[in-house]
Amino acid sequence: MSIVSYELIDNIGVIRLNYPPVNALSHALRVGVIEAVQQAQDDASEILVLMCEGRTFIAGADIREFGKPAQDPSLPDMLEQLENSGKPIVAAIHGTALGGGFETALACHYRCAVKSAKVGLPEVNLGLLPGAGGTQRTPRLAGAEAALDMITSGSPVSAEKALALNLVDRVVEGDLQEAAIGYARELLEQNAPARRVRDLSAESAEPELFDRYRKQLAKRKRGQIAPQHIVRCVEAAVTLPMDEGLALERKLFLECKASPQSAAMRHMFFAEREAAKVEGLAKDTPTRDINKVAIIGGGTMGGGIAMNFANVGIPVTLVEISDEAIERGLGIIDKNYSITVSKGKLNEDQKQQRMALIQGTTNYADLADMDLVIEAVFENPDLKKEIFKKLDASCKPGAILASNTSYQDIDQIAAATSRPQDVLGMHFFSPANVMKLLEIVRGEHSADDVIQTAMKLAKTIGKVPVLSGNCYGFIGNRMLKPYGSEAQLCLLEGATPAQLDAAMQNFGMAMGPLAVGDLAGLDIGYKAREALTEEQKGDPKTFCIPDALVEMGRLGQKSGAGYYRYDPETRARQPDPEVDELIAAKAAEFGIERRELSDDEIVERLTSALAREGEKILEEGIAQRRSDIDVVYAFGYGFPVYRGGPMFYAQQTAAEG
Ligand code: 3HC
Ligand code: NAI
Repeated sequence: MSIVSYELIDNIGVIRLNYPPVNALSHALRVGVIEAVQQAQDDASEILVLMCEGRTFIAGADIREFGKPAQDPSLPDMLEQLENSGKPIVAAIHGTALGGGFETALACHYRCAVKSAKVGLPEVNLGLLPGAGGTQRTPRLAGAEAALDMITSGSPVSAEKALALNLVDRVVEGDLQEAAIGYARELLEQNAPARRVRDLSAESAEPELFDRYRKQLAKRKRGQIAPQHIVRCVEAAVTLPMDEGLALERKLFLECKASPQSAAMRHMFFAEREAAKVEGLAKDTPTRDINKVAIIGGGTMGGGIAMNFANVGIPVTLVEISDEAIERGLGIIDKNYSITVSKGKLNEDQKQQRMALIQGTTNYADLADMDLVIEAVFENPDLKKEIFKKLDASCKPGAILASNTSYQDIDQIAAATSRPQDVLGMHFFSPANVMKLLEIVRGEHSADDVIQTAMKLAKTIGKVPVLSGNCYGFIGNRMLKPYGSEAQLCLLEGATPAQLDAAMQNFGMAMGPLAVGDLAGLDIGYKAREALTEEQKGDPKTFCIPDALVEMGRLGQKSGAGYYRYDPETRARQPDPEVDELIAAKAAEFGIERRELSDDEIVERLTSALAREGEKILEEGIAQRRSDIDVVYAFGYGFPVYRGGPMFYAQQTAAEG
């Protein structure tokens, strides 16, 4: 079957697109649509329906074409043909009409959608703005504020919401083609004209709307170009004629498309999808059914992990050491759900349903029919081995046994069981109900179907999985060490904590490394170092400051002081001269002459430290591919997506010279 087909059904012309997997608007598709619309102008059709085969309506421009020279006809050329068709065109939407796909629907004269469909303009997530009229047509239908929300968030809306926003005209039930043809017949009976969105005018409710969005986005999407350009375009929809608005949109779209930010975000889009694939494992590798899950340990991590499963309707058994510990764990989960309810993202009934899916126990006999058990007890290797021995004795054959350990050797944990093929690491990130990253750690004996099941399950619970080999700290935490060490050297050489954190935050990190240390507690690293030999600890310059801080009782936020001093009420942080003195004294001890470091030098040294360790991880085969490391850092450690992850960033900066 060709990519675009045209069929006359009585007096209705049906244009069908068939370009799997998501009907992306490739060059061939654009040519095909234009030809079909032209053909339809001269036949017996009185109205046209544009619809897609397969799982979805058009999901956008073909992102794979973006790095290549543009080929005419462009998407705006195609939309002009649709909009100027003498016969009305009805877009019939199922799946997701996204980006250029939704813009195509907006250039048609009427839109109907099945109830399960979603529409949206997610370009901002690729460092772009809608480049084919989305910023001009959306406000003409839905108003400027709704358009700003939709385009700057990039979040799709349901068909019902789109109906309420005037973005679709009808929500239909049953077979899409039948329903769309029925709708087209109704329009014919009403003599409905080829109604063009461009002929409407967009009115803004309040004059300060645009400035408000500019300010909000400067904070929420700090450092990003596209969101600010989107505001300019939507403002133009209100203040300028359509063609001038379109011209501005096109100019700013092309600017975004050529920007390093968009290149980085497009890289991340494909990197995220690649990361889910395991080299050497066929797509049809069997998976095990996961219908019942147990979590051992209901602390900081265990509670969050349990929520992930309850959120998708999978019952969870939470194993703790005592009834009080169960109550404490369930209490924290309850509180977390209540926060979600108070934000309006969940209703009380849904909260109760989810809570009802989580049961506590202290009895391992309750684990006999579990499909998956995830251990999340204290980071103590002997305790973990003891627990895996118990799991081996209690769980049914074929149950998957996972550890959430941050650093321990998965093979040693597996060796405590008689079934190492069923054991792997599932390393969640804190807060586990929020953070998207899930490192799937493959042990020497982990079976293929166990790995495949974990990768698939990650998607079910809304996580982004990355496969890691078994080494100290796996991919992410292993890279933290040289990153943290470089930060310590910068302090000794002359940076202040506030300068260093600000430099990294301005670069785009969610937080600077020293503020992160204060948040997590400096005693954690201190205790971990105590267990190491002098050789394992490495260069004292890389830990003398945090050691001294802990010995001064400065454990971080929880003790009111660490690298900074914290306001006991607001937790606001302030630089502390006592720390500056400590750093100067330590530098003198090591004979380091302090100097002024530029922010650029700090960023360069810290990001290079990450990338250097990343290269080693790659050489050792711990990560499958360079882009997987970028995914780990963007989804687990707050590395700015618009910089593309540490490996991509290092390559970009090296290429720039
Ligand atoms: N271009 C090229 N390939 C695309 C694509 C696109 N727009 N969207 C998805 N794909 C590919 C994916 O890379 C993946 O390929 P793979 O199988 O080789 O890894 C395959 O299609 C399936 O994608 P997913 O694994 O993501 O499938 P899901 O079912 O989970 O999700 C989706 C489907 C919701 C459509 C999701 O793929 C998505 O969000 N796509 C991107 C949508 C988007 O950003 N559109 C805007 C593009 S920019 C634009 O339109 C500019 C315009 O304004 C001018
Ligand atoms: P935590 O101290 O908050 O919770 C541990 C829980 O395990 C406690 O509630 C404790 O009562 C329970 N427990 C101890 N022994 C038990 C046993 N024999 N049976 C059942 N329950 C038992 O610890 P946290 O922070 O949740 O860490 C758990 C694991 O997750 C560790 O291996 C840690 O390295 C890892 N991890 C921690 C992260 C974090 O940021 N906190 C991030 C990623 C992984």
